[in-house]
This record gives sequence, structure tokens and C-alpha cells, in this order.
Amino acid sequence: MTARIIDGKALASSIKQALATKIENLRAKGERLPCLAMTLVGDDPASHIYVAGKEKACAAIGMLSKGVVLPADISQAALLEHVARLNDDPEVDGILVQLPLPRHINRWEVIKAIAPEKDVDGLTPHNQGLLAWGKPGLYSCTPLGIMELIRSTGVTIEGALAAVLGRSVLVGAPTANLLGNAGATVASLHSKSRNVPAITRQADILVVATGCYNLVQQDWVKPGAVVIDVGIHRIGKAVRGDVNFETVSEVAGHITPVPGGVGPMTIAMLLHNCVLSYEARRGDA
Ligand code: GUN
Repeated sequence: MTARIIDGKALASSIKQALATKIENLRAKGERLPCLAMTLVGDDPASHIYVAGKEKACAAIGMLSKGVVLPADISQAALLEHVARLNDDPEVDGILVQLPLPRHINRWEVIKAIAPEKDVDGLTPHNQGLLAWGKPGLYSCTPLGIMELIRSTGVTIEGALAAVLGRSVLVGAPTANLLGNAGATVASLHSKSRNVPAITRQADILVVATGCYNLVQQDWVKPGAVVIDVGIHRIGKAVRGDVNFETVSEVAGHITPVPGGVGPMTIAMLLHNCVLSYEARRGDA
């Protein structure tokens, strides 16, 4: 079998197009436009690239964005004051504090200071609680993108066995919740799990978000499975994932490429969350 490639770039592009049309309609009516405020602390080069990509994506659909770079040695109190100002700013619909934060900052304290109705990353305990309850809320962008990629294959999620490799608050844990809410039977696997390949080999849907380059090999995958690779690793000039694409694509039914799979969807769902937050704050939702 040769897997069908799930084209995340094309799917993200159609989502962004629909959002751009919505924003164009607001502009034509002279309405205030949605605005995303991004905060970057310090000089982590990868974070600078990610935030620049998000700013470009906002501009491409006509959405406003405000990027602020704060010094690496900022105190936690000053960062919390900055977040409080964004919470109170009526022109700001979405707040994103780029992770990781410097070591002296407690990320839990910073994330839980974000107003839940502006938490477009879906990281606050309030929104993660709504997700755990299966109630509408702002859910994390990469997990939302993963669900759209899986749905785009036409494979039935309800009743499927889904294995999620990795249990981070940003990706693994909320993805397991979303899959469970959609009716899948979910195995949440992590670095302490035993017999991982024996479990993943049974999974109809396999989501891999471990941060380990080339971890998942052909014999970890059930023939015909949907395989979603969240990993991003720079290997020389190439960008690769957590999954051995060449061998796994010989057995999987559907597979995301790296790059061009999950990455573009994360940004599309961030923009989607921002528009959701804008509509909810205006009372249109
Ligand atoms: N760092 C890497 N990915 C993300 C993300 O989705 N949101 C935030 N806030 N930080 C990140």
C-alpha cells in the first residue's frame, strides 16, 4: 500500500481564505478588525521565526497583529503586568505568549493570567477544563489542526482506536481529549509507556508528537492507518518529522508530510481562534 498524502498546506489555505473573506466583509462595513497580540520574551531564534510567521499570516488574511518583544531578564511581575494590560485592552481579541519562556519565569503563572476569552492558544486552565468537559471553548491550535487533518481523510473517528504519542499540554494531552470527545478510544502514550509499538500497531489513527526524530518506524504502524506527524527537526538542509516517512508511507492509509502537514494547520487554527474570540467578545457567536 502507498499512503495518500494529507495536504496540510492546501487545507490551511482554504481555512485562511474563508477567514480572509470574513475579515474583508468587516472591513467593508467599517467595523473594528480582529487583533492578535503576540508576546515574545528573550531571543530564542526558533521562537522569533515562529512569531514572524504568525504575524505574516495575520497580515495575509487582513487581520491586525501586535508583536511585542520583551527582554530575556524581565521579571515575572512585569510580564504579568504586561499580560494584564493586554487583558484590559478592548482592541485586543487574542493573546499569545510564545513558549518556551526563560527559566526564571513560571509559565503556569503567566498562562493562567491570560483572560480565558482571549486565550487563543487554548492553554489556560479554564479552556483546558472546557475541553476536558467537552464544552465549547478556545482549544489549542495544533490539536484543532490535527483533528481537521484527520477529518479530511474521511476516516470515521467514532469508535476508532487512536494512539497519541506524547502528552504535552500544548499538543499531546489536548489532542487525546479532542479524539476522546469525538468518540475515539484513545491510548495516550509517553516516555514511561511500555510496549509502545505493540500498542501503536493496533491504532487506526496514530498521532506522533514526541519531539524524537525518526522514532516511528514501519512496524509500529497498522496497515491503512491515518498517521499524523507533529515533529519538526532540521536535519542538515532538510526538515523531517518524528515518523520515518519513507517506510511508514508504504503501509499507512493516509500520512502527513513534514513540512506541509501539521505546521500550516497550526497557524490556520490560530487565526480561526482569533476570529472566534473576536466574534464571542462582540456577542456575534
Ligand atoms: N511554542 C511552540 N508552539 C507554540 C504554540 O502553539 N503556542 C505558544 N504559545 N508557544 C509555542
